[in-house]
Amino acid sequence: MTDRPLRIDIITIFPAMVKGFVEESILKRAMAMERVFFNVVDLRNYTTDKHRTTDDRAYGGGPGMVMKPEPLFAAVDTLKTAGSRVLLMTPQGRRFDQSVAETLAPEKHLIFLCGHYEGVDERVRTALATDELSIGDYVLTNGTLAAVVVVDAITRLLPGVLGGEGATTEESFRQGLLEYPQYTRPAEFRGMPVPQVLRSGDHAAIARWRADQARERTRKRRPDLFKEGMGYVS
Ligand code: ADE
Repeated sequence: MTDRPLRIDIITIFPAMVKGFVEESILKRAMAMERVFFNVVDLRNYTTDKHRTTDDRAYGGGPGMVMKPEPLFAAVDTLKTAGSRVLLMTPQGRRFDQSVAETLAPEKHLIFLCGHYEGVDERVRTALATDELSIGDYVLTNGTLAAVVVVDAITRLLPGVLGGEGATTEESFRQGLLEYPQYTRPAEFRGMPVPQVLRSGDHAAIARWRADQARERTRKRRPDLFKEGMGYVS
């Protein structure tokens, strides 16, 4: 992990959407700490026609519009630096998960390309994007939403951004397990007590209980993630 801020550019036709997110989120804090340098780019600033057109009809016909290549190429040409990664948000991309977030967090510069509606000209995929990312097997109308999800997951991994040491190391997925149940006061609420072990002060017993709970929860809810022997504490 470098000490330089991670530079993130989001190229979108909905810059106001991203700005709202930035102002209300962990990203604001990460920027204040100079962990992230964040820039929202209005794709329309890279159009050359009077109507600031970013999409057009598909060759071969069919419903829906396709995002034109020229503004996207022009924007990336202006923004790119040595070693920048250009991430195209698309349901056809690699499935984003915690391990992908961990590989992106140490990068120097991420440029997000946000598609919308029917899709983007194929030459953007083949000659501009270095990566294609999907946030799940469903189709959004707006890749900007997907980019914001990915930016949030990456930003919170940057050193110091979350505050409390260890906050990211114990959570869901870090050890391939879902999180154990958490409680805070009151000790009993509407007839539902906090498990006695958590109030016992016995740290070894608490660690064992949490490991058991995380393992059982993962086995039941996400058998696809579960491997025998996971999460045992010695
Ligand atoms: N754009 C539309 N749907 C998407 C998805 N599931 N992931 C990433 N970008 C998208």
